Amino acid sequence: MQITSELSRHDADLTGTHPTRADLAGGGWYRSVNPARTSEVVAEVALGDAGTFVAACRAARAAQRGWAGVPAPVRGRAVGYAGRIVEANAEALARLVTTEVGKPYAEALGEVREIIDTCDFFVGEGRRLYGETVPSEMPDKQLFTFRNPVGVVAVVTAGNFPVAVPSWYLVPALLTGNAVVWKPAEYAAASAHALYRMFVRAGLPDGVLQLVLADGATTFDGLSAALDAGLVDKVGFTGSTAVGTAIGELCGRHLQSPCLELGGKNPMVVTPSAPLDLAVEGALFAGFGTAGQRCTSLGTVIVHESRHDELLARFSAAVETAPVGEPTAPVLMGPLLEQRFADRFEEYLGWIGPHHKVSGSTAIGRITRDQPRAGFVGDPSEGLYYHPTIVDGLRPDDALFRHETFGPIVGVTTYRTLDEAIELANAPGYGLSSSIYTTDPIDVFAFRTGISAGMVSINNSTSGAEAHLPFGGNGRSGNGSRQSGRWVLDQFTRWQAVNWDYSGRLQKAQMDVAELTADLDFRL
Ligand code: UN1
Repeated sequence: MQITSELSRHDADLTGTHPTRADLAGGGWYRSVNPARTSEVVAEVALGDAGTFVAACRAARAAQRGWAGVPAPVRGRAVGYAGRIVEANAEALARLVTTEVGKPYAEALGEVREIIDTCDFFVGEGRRLYGETVPSEMPDKQLFTFRNPVGVVAVVTAGNFPVAVPSWYLVPALLTGNAVVWKPAEYAAASAHALYRMFVRAGLPDGVLQLVLADGATTFDGLSAALDAGLVDKVGFTGSTAVGTAIGELCGRHLQSPCLELGGKNPMVVTPSAPLDLAVEGALFAGFGTAGQRCTSLGTVIVHESRHDELLARFSAAVETAPVGEPTAPVLMGPLLEQRFADRFEEYLGWIGPHHKVSGSTAIGRITRDQPRAGFVGDPSEGLYYHPTIVDGLRPDDALFRHETFGPIVGVTTYRTLDEAIELANAPGYGLSSSIYTTDPIDVFAFRTGISAGMVSINNSTSGAEAHLPFGGNGRSGNGSRQSGRWVLDQFTRWQAVNWDYSGRLQKAQMDVAELTADLDFRL
């Protein structure tokens, strides 16, 4: 399959030229491969250059006003149709996600479900995009609030959730009357292209949604040029803290506040009263589901010293016996997403020190014929497979404790008092997801109050947020923006305050206001 950026015909209309395949390949060609069988090419991708990105933003700008003029309930129906088309193609899309990024099929189906859930939620929002009617302080005057679309939204997404996380941006942004330029991860281009095609077929007018395929550096240049040209009004970015910081700086120079969903070092606190079986099950899924490559993946288990040995023994046994391998089979984890993630994961493994105790598998690093994993499903030499790794004995100054380690590695450390556990949980400075296992309600409220994370799970894993609660983080996990549910509307709309004076005279606020006389000295 060959895939190119999908620039709309508006672009051709504006420039008088039709973009050719060669124009769209200004950034060269990229091969998206199956990480479970790296010899299998999923798609050949023509990458655009910075000009491709700017052209897409210009075309989106041309289409946006017309789209904003479509009544919100009608835009809501487009979102509804998108959800139904995705639902009708759920298995095919999930299979493609599994093939392209190696996510186990059951998880890929869950990811597709998350798109449908998001569409379901926002169909209704089209009829509910409420403003308010507010009394004025003066007679014959009425106040109102309206939500206006921001304009053109540029969305840059990662490939670990190649279709669900993009839908968190696309659906509310389109629903609220914005045009969207979407730049997915190139290693997930086929999945992105499939989602794009389904959304366009939901009845979106030409130009309202643009798909641009480009590498990261080119995208940054294109985004910078598009911001300079006044073609982008809002940026949404899901990816690393380092890139999110650069995007935040860039947008700040344009007085814009991007919607940033960045990394996490998500803690799980296991208290003396914790149901241990449940905690182990949660740690297994949160640590090694999606091969530890969720932004919500478990970073460090912070276990009370009285439960440490038992927890570690049970957790190690669960990880050792979990099925790893071919992602079309019912496995806990498949391969890493792509070569660059494998390379980076090897660096993280280099942070394991002599004071650490490693468990969870038969070796550390790449699973090969020489370094086999007991019970591996399939042939490990075909893909980017890594041993799941538990590292016990983490200290607060260890790199493994302080930084996100995207991949199948979980740290373990101990605490004595809950205050100490909360301090350890907050210490890395991220603040996306968190979890506590306890049967003591006092622990729950102390943790909820003290933890810096945007999301808190009680007796549940750090992963697996539902699609209609606010999703987002603080500190190194983001700038406080929230996606999903009604909260995301504030990302893609701006409030407009309207006052309508029908008194026929100039009534001055704060000055021409009637005074009532109160007897404030009155006492019983
Ligand atoms: C991500 O990894 O960027 O809560 C998103 C979860 C999923 C979304 C993860 N619903 O784990």
